Amino acid sequence: MSTATAVRPGSGAMFDAIAERYDLVNRIASLGLDRSWRRAAIQALALGTGARVLDVATGTADVAIAIARRYADARVVGIDPSVRMLERGARKLHRAGLDGRVELLPGDAMALPFDAESFDAAICAFGIRNVPDREAVLREMRRVTRRGGRVVVLELGEPRGALGRIARLHVHHVVPWLGAWLSSAPAYRYLSRSIAAFPPPERFAEQMRAVGLVPVHIRSLTFGAAWLFAAECPLDVAAR
Ligand SMILES: C[S@@+](CC[C@H](N)C(=O)[O-])C[C@H]1O[C@@H](n2cnc3c(N)ncnc32)[C@H](O)[C@@H]1O
Repeated sequence: MSTATAVRPGSGAMFDAIAERYDLVNRIASLGLDRSWRRAAIQALALGTGARVLDVATGTADVAIAIARRYADARVVGIDPSVRMLERGARKLHRAGLDGRVELLPGDAMALPFDAESFDAAICAFGIRNVPDREAVLREMRRVTRRGGRVVVLELGEPRGALGRIARLHVHHVVPWLGAWLSSAPAYRYLSRSIAAFPPPERFAEQMRAVGLVPVHIRSLTFGAAWLFAAECPLDVAAR
């Protein structure tokens, strides 16, 4: 039985199993592109001075750390159900001297433990694909973000076009093999299945609208290997 079928998606257990090698596999499998994709997503948050930012499905805290480094006055909270991923993230924060500015908490994106409008912006990088109820995540991200604030989702996609064919081979054949080899866990087989199951960008934008978000910026990165969705929380109360 693969890890993907042995654990409940969204519980964090699958990521507990691969936490130690997660960053390494990420960097090699994405050919180092994951960092520039995260940077583009952070830029799309359009953060102001002293912003409070929520990083949903923070994992090993790469996004949270990148935000704290780029915006010296930002306060960041990262949330994830995988305790092992959070432990790795906490070690990275400590090494970066950012413990005081980034808080990591265990929790579920489908039921965020925060009051309405607690944050100026919320981001979820490569996480929403792993959660069973995507609309619940979007609804929660919208609820905890203030009116006029941004909700940004970065997610892997099915690469398109001629060069995309090579990228598809990479995602569906090389990455599962690489992941199994480097982390001795079959979870990476789940990766290509979950990418294929993720809705096309137009459909995902509709899901954003369905929860009251207003998409302002949708962009394909590296031939559609990743997609960036930036939306605004409406200013008027009625739309919320
Ligand atoms: C592919 S990792 C992404 C981690 C990180 N955001 C990054 O950029 O590398 C997906 C993360 O989603 C988390 N996750 C799975 N189910 C979740 C849920 N219900 N709520 C929040 N996070 C969840 C996993 O534990 C894992 O850390």
